Amino acid sequence: MTLKNKAALDFLLTRRSRPAKTLTKPVPSNVELVEILKAGTRVPDHGKLEPWRLKVLSKPALDKTAVAAREYCNSINCDELVTAKAAKQFEDGELGVIVIEVQKSSEKIPRIEQTYSAGAVCLSLVNAGLAAGWGANWLTGWISHDKKFVSKTFDLEPNERVAGIIYFGTETIAPSERPRPDLAEIVTWE
Ligand SMILES: Cc1cc2nc3c(=O)[nH]c(=O)nc-3n(C[C@H](O)[C@H](O)[C@H](O)COP(=O)(O)O)c2cc1C
Repeated sequence: MTLKNKAALDFLLTRRSRPAKTLTKPVPSNVELVEILKAGTRVPDHGKLEPWRLKVLSKPALDKTAVAAREYCNSINCDELVTAKAAKQFEDGELGVIVIEVQKSSEKIPRIEQTYSAGAVCLSLVNAGLAAGWGANWLTGWISHDKKFVSKTFDLEPNERVAGIIYFGTETIAPSERPRPDLAEIVTWE
């Protein structure tokens, strides 16, 4: 029988991301991160395809990515503000995990369901990080969806794309609560 887990329910009723730009060191150790990754990849996955993989970006890797982002932006003549914004998340970040959606060929499982499963990994990683006592945030930004940039910088194959980059760290400011959905607006009961 499934028992009520009040602590887990309370966590889910109050959870909220911590903006990546407000996170600082220390970050989870590798051992602590492995636990978060284990929890984060425990997600619904139709057909057990595991249509995702993860890439951990330590601070040096984030710094390299920031440089690559600036170079890429310059190569396509982005204006300065766009370039600065594209590089900022990598410059600010202390530890990031890229959730890479890996589309698997399947006669039975629709592609969209593989996308949903990759999204589930993203949320689950955020929640696992928060539950472990860290600040966590799911970011993308246009450059994360730019095929040319991500295939070169993150070694992505044509059947892969970035579902999200999850940043972890120590929170410096508690964010104020944001409005949450009004169930009366989004739920119908039949
Ligand atoms: C797919 C996806 C991509 C996102 N990308 C960004 C982003 O690039 N920049 C940003 O400021 N917020 C982004 N967000 C929103 C942040 O994750 C935000 O912190 C989050 O919506 C707060 O939700 P919570 O308070 O329920 O945890 C993204 C959210 C999702 C679902």
